[in-house]
Amino acid sequence: MQKDMDKIVSLAKRRGFVFPGSEIYGGLANSWDYGPIGHLLKQNIKKAWWKFFVLERPDMVPIDTAILMNPKVWEASEHLQNFSDELVECKKCHHRFRADHLLEAVGARPGYDKEKPRPADKVRCPDCGGALTAPRNFNLMFKTYLGTTEDTSSVVYLRPETAGGMFVNFKNVLNVTRRRLPLGIAQIGKCFRNEITPGNFIFRTREFEIGEFEYFINPDSAGGWEKTFEMWLAEIRRWWKDVMRVDADNLVWHEIPKNELAHYSKRTVDIEYKYPFGVKELHGIAYRTDFDLSRHEKISGQDLHYTDPDTGEKFLPHVIEPTFGIDRMLLVSLLEAYGEEEAPTAEKGETETRVVMKFPKNLAPIQAAVLPLSKKEELSKIGLPLAAELRKKFIVDYDETQSIGKRYRRQDEIGTPYCVTVDFDSLEDKKVTVRDRDSMRQERIAIKEVGDYLSEKFDHA
Ligand code: GAP
Repeated sequence: MQKDMDKIVSLAKRRGFVFPGSEIYGGLANSWDYGPIGHLLKQNIKKAWWKFFVLERPDMVPIDTAILMNPKVWEASEHLQNFSDELVECKKCHHRFRADHLLEAVGARPGYDKEKPRPADKVRCPDCGGALTAPRNFNLMFKTYLGTTEDTSSVVYLRPETAGGMFVNFKNVLNVTRRRLPLGIAQIGKCFRNEITPGNFIFRTREFEIGEFEYFINPDSAGGWEKTFEMWLAEIRRWWKDVMRVDADNLVWHEIPKNELAHYSKRTVDIEYKYPFGVKELHGIAYRTDFDLSRHEKISGQDLHYTDPDTGEKFLPHVIEPTFGIDRMLLVSLLEAYGEEEAPTAEKGETETRVVMKFPKNLAPIQAAVLPLSKKEELSKIGLPLAAELRKKFIVDYDETQSIGKRYRRQDEIGTPYCVTVDFDSLEDKKVTVRDRDSMRQERIAIKEVGDYLSEKFDHA
């Protein structure tokens, strides 16, 4: 089924996944707020990410570092010098564009085809057909000021990635955890980039979250860095298949050709997704050699070498860095979950199109909804305590207004795997009806067994 971005954006707003940012003031271009349902979905994706990549492994530790860092960090990482995109401006309408995006429009691979004609030579303004300026570098880092004076000595930057926090704490983490290599340090956090052309909903924004880790290795260990890189590629494949349950046909594993690699990388794979607006990057994995630690050693003057406790060998660890855009993962989870299907209505023989978000159960924002058939007190006397009991273990919604059909549709649209309906028979048989989101099959379950029934349905609920 061809997924339609307009439908996803409209559902996201209607059901509280994602709202346009600052909406009552006319919005702020390309900023988005996660609503109650979107927040829960994002939390579940992050929780699953921590569990899969960090907590279930003996070789990973978490960290949570500051957004504002000493500007020397960005000198060491070369963000101050090189973290820029080429910007072109239309001489007529003054709209601004990323040069690589315009190159893409003439069939060049975005970002890589340095040999292809410059946009100014070949391409006109896509909005008005006007001539374009020559490309100039535009640094994407947001600048701000520390303290009360706006002089250059107090300039700081909002971090454009979380990696810097892991590198500057490498020695601290080694000391306190007393771990040996290989060791990964992982972090999820907000990042900021003053993108020239944000857009496509939450795909490219100026404020977003990254989950990434720096996996420190001895590149001369058995199998070398190549073996570790393959191990992480396999883990990433498992993540998309088993946890995010993404259709493998929608992922593209793009091996960056050698002549297009960043100067510090010996291998990079971009994991791309077939979005409705084209095949574009979802996230990536790069072997960054010892570039980062050697740069931080040079700029900070500190010794960041590691001494192997068994062999006494002293070396600068190399790094493999898998990076995930949390917002892009959430966008992909919306696209993968979205479905439309014909479903019977209350009228005999009639059907209607139901929209259903078939999230993997463990990622579903709401796990169960308790829905008394009417607002009558005799039913809420059963429904309210049942919801309170279930809330100790699950994320539960309680809704007693509107027709049951409309309430099922709402729960389908936010992807609730189980609806628990309390009806007048419940007063007699002490049972409720549990409806499965995907099959719409209904089962009668004893009220006191609903918790155990649901526990069996969720992994590690
Ligand atoms: N430390 C490596 C690094 O930051 P990156 O490819 O620049 O790598 C990592 O960014 C991931 O962050 C991307 O693969 C993408 O998922 C996400 N990302 C990057 N820019 C973004 C933006 N403007 N809006 C939303 N997500 C973005």
